[in-house]
Amino acid sequence: MDKIVIRGGKPLHGAIPIGGAKNSALKLMAASLLSPETLTLTNLPHLVDITTMAHLLAELGVRIAMDGSAANGGHAGRAFNLTADTITSTTAPYDLVRKMRASVLVLGPLLARFGEARVSLPGGCAIGTRPVDLHLKALAQMGAEIDLREGYIEAKAPNGLKGAHVIFPVVTVGGTENLLMAATLAEGETIITNAAREPEVSDLAACLTAMGAQIEGAGTDTLRIVGRRELHGAEHAVIVDRIELGTYAIAAAITGGSLELLGGRLDLIQAVVDALHGAGVDFDETPGGIRVSRTRNGLRGIDVMTEPYPGFPTDMQAQLMALMSVAEGASMITESIFENRFMHVPELCRMGANINVHGSSAIVRGVDHLSSAPVMATDLRASVSLVLAGLVARGETMVNRVYHLDRGYERLEDKLAACGADIERVRT
Ligand code: EPZ
Repeated sequence: MDKIVIRGGKPLHGAIPIGGAKNSALKLMAASLLSPETLTLTNLPHLVDITTMAHLLAELGVRIAMDGSAANGGHAGRAFNLTADTITSTTAPYDLVRKMRASVLVLGPLLARFGEARVSLPGGCAIGTRPVDLHLKALAQMGAEIDLREGYIEAKAPNGLKGAHVIFPVVTVGGTENLLMAATLAEGETIITNAAREPEVSDLAACLTAMGAQIEGAGTDTLRIVGRRELHGAEHAVIVDRIELGTYAIAAAITGGSLELLGGRLDLIQAVVDALHGAGVDFDETPGGIRVSRTRNGLRGIDVMTEPYPGFPTDMQAQLMALMSVAEGASMITESIFENRFMHVPELCRMGANINVHGSSAIVRGVDHLSSAPVMATDLRASVSLVLAGLVARGETMVNRVYHLDRGYERLEDKLAACGADIERVRT
């Protein structure tokens, strides 16, 4: 299994291109199931999770033509043409769903267009139990008959889905997206109250609208969808990855460097910008994106709580904790979205960080420096937080289980090395 080896202590300077958002691309790919015509997606990141979703869709009969565009020095995202004109199966098998929970996002589109779907129940995962009960309750409200049998969700809507007023009791990104897709082909009007406002949901709504769907309220907590008999083909460019953006912003901050993040948009990471500004990090817009620098001397501890968008993203919590580990003073980081998202804490502590967890909050007391250690993590963002820590740790940090990073960060080590990091992938 590959490892990443980092010799810390080099401030990063240069420019990093930010790719298309994984968490948008996966749902956009699933949306191709809603139409027999071709959906062309551009700016897709080159990531393991995208390949997993492509395998799943191919298993269902979607034809996928890829354009592995090498334009822009290989930095341009890939383009896929996805055509769901001859679906051969409506079953998402266990072997693919267990690799990636986002596979459950084929449920809404399959059910809406074909009146049936059989999707393996995603199990718990490293960051918590992560049920899909809210997806299922919402689809049931639209008239779906849902059974759980032998580890599978078996859903049927022989007479089609019907519009409904769905009120989500908690904000769920995937639940909102599954329902939004299903509602585009339902009979009548669907209203989603307490909808997720994440930019990836708005990106999906924009793509569905280009496919002929009628959607109002994207980006707000109330979505109103009037179902259509069918959707047509479209072309859509995946929105920039705000979590990749925020992660490299922290790379600049933690190393005391300055990075231009190409394609970056401040509006997508405003809560991160506000928090980091309080910690002593500067952000400026540039013609090509945004520049992040730590010009002032020290970093200061800040208190942050993760929240649904537009709050501070849970997907940036681990990276912020790495930064706070070397800030002056104490900070309190509270995780309000997932119940078990502090797996990076013991690993950061092995590198010399001083962190105590009390329930859903972690108290981080900044230390003068981190030291290298062999480390590993069990999820994507926890893994990248260890890479960030390695960038400032004294000595050689070895990050194991790199496959987690490959699920969400395209050419991470190349992008960092191009800006002066001493980092390499060791293939074993
Ligand atoms: C999406 O997960 C992202 N994944 C996650 O990113 C992200 O952390 C999360 O949204 C929150 O922003 C993808 O987009 C593929 P939720 P999702 O439904 O949709 C509970 C990463 O690192 N809940 O908004 O699965 C749930 O357990 C990943 O890229 C229910 O109880 O998240 C959680 O506590 C990790 N029942 C909360 O709601 C349900 O039916 C929010 O989950 C659904 C959710």
